[in-house]
Amino acid sequence: MERTEVAIVGAGPAGLLLAHLLQAEGVDTVVLEARSREYVEHRVRAGVCEHTTVALLRGLGLADRLDREGLVHGGLTLRFDRADHRIDLAALTGKSITVYGQQEIVKDLIAARLATGQDIEFEAADVRLHELTTDAPTVTWTDAHGGARELRADAVAGCDGFHGVCRAAIPASALTCYDHVYPYAWLGVLAQAPPSHEELIYPWHPRGFALHSMRSPELTRLYLQVNPDERLDDWSDARIWDELATRLATDDGFTLRQGPLLEKGITPMRSFVTETMRHGRLFLAGDAAHIVPPTGAKGMNLAVADVRRLGPALVALLRKNDSRPAEAYTERCLSRVWRAEHFSYFMTTMLHRFPDADPFVDQLQLSQLRYTTRSTAAATSLAENYVGLPFDWP
Ligand code: APR
Ligand code: PHB
Repeated sequence: MERTEVAIVGAGPAGLLLAHLLQAEGVDTVVLEARSREYVEHRVRAGVCEHTTVALLRGLGLADRLDREGLVHGGLTLRFDRADHRIDLAALTGKSITVYGQQEIVKDLIAARLATGQDIEFEAADVRLHELTTDAPTVTWTDAHGGARELRADAVAGCDGFHGVCRAAIPASALTCYDHVYPYAWLGVLAQAPPSHEELIYPWHPRGFALHSMRSPELTRLYLQVNPDERLDDWSDARIWDELATRLATDDGFTLRQGPLLEKGITPMRSFVTETMRHGRLFLAGDAAHIVPPTGAKGMNLAVADVRRLGPALVALLRKNDSRPAEAYTERCLSRVWRAEHFSYFMTTMLHRFPDADPFVDQLQLSQLRYTTRSTAAATSLAENYVGLPFDWP
């Protein structure tokens, strides 16, 4: 049987960053990932890093490319009544966000781990967890060459996303799950076209939400609110551009720059929280424990905040025989998770138009948007949640 200190299931941002945090403390890890390296490096996801996320990566020496290529934004635009209403994040909070694709972070974290001679077990199939309530949990899997493998660890980190196996290894009687499914989805595209605006645009439009984001000076990332049962085949490139142009139109002649679409996908939207995030020696982090709708751009940042807490908790448990941070892990994480859940729900329900739109709800949404952009208190509330609350909040 192989041996390590922490078995990490999942090589997304949560699992990879945890591996680096533990490595910095001299803790030995094995990372198991169901997919190939190629697949995880090219999976297009969100792209907004809170300032605490950037600071953590920088502190670990993992932000060289992010610092070179990331786009620092001191504001964002809420677009409604066919006009722009800017939220000056920097003036309101003293902080900014950095636009840098999640898969670029994944690439950087994989390269940095491999560069130190550490491995990642890609294409690990049939991962199973055993003996989680003992001091010696084990993980079994079938490796990329078909070999049966068995690993003994002191703890297991379940960083395997919403559809992973780790959360399911916790007995149902020990779990409370909160689930909320929204009546819409996002159709996301990556366009080979320079951004049409220097910052992100979040519009409210009678035909539904759209989002103008970006990845680089040459690449625009755009989203459209669609029905959850929408088929990608029904969305030709021309239809996507038409709909984006309609929802993003202003009275002062905004033009949407177009280009070839490099990637298209539809993502359903849900909010989900698992309570507990720990069962014996298994600790959940990131999407394995909670999901937010993407409107607040909180998903990856929450995953980062979880492992930032989990790393020191594991070091205390394994190196100092101090189980208090491990015992407090769920409670400390969930306080931030629920704040992000509320903020994401707030942004989502303020900006999306329901399929059977109620004119009363439309007016409530527009009133909230006007209040958010005209009251410094309301704008500050949006801004401080958007840039990210301090790591130790509350
Ligand atoms: N065994 C091993 N790996 C698995 C298994 C399994 N049974 N199931 C899933 N995985 C892998 C997935 O292939 C994925 O690479 O776990 C990884 C989980 O990574 P993410 O889904 O990126 O989740 P996380 O690291 O928590 O990052 C959260 O990702 O989904 C976005 O919006 C979310 O931005 C947020 C971020
Ligand atoms: C993105 O760039 O993919 C993005 C940006 C902001 C969001 C969601 C996604 O709120």
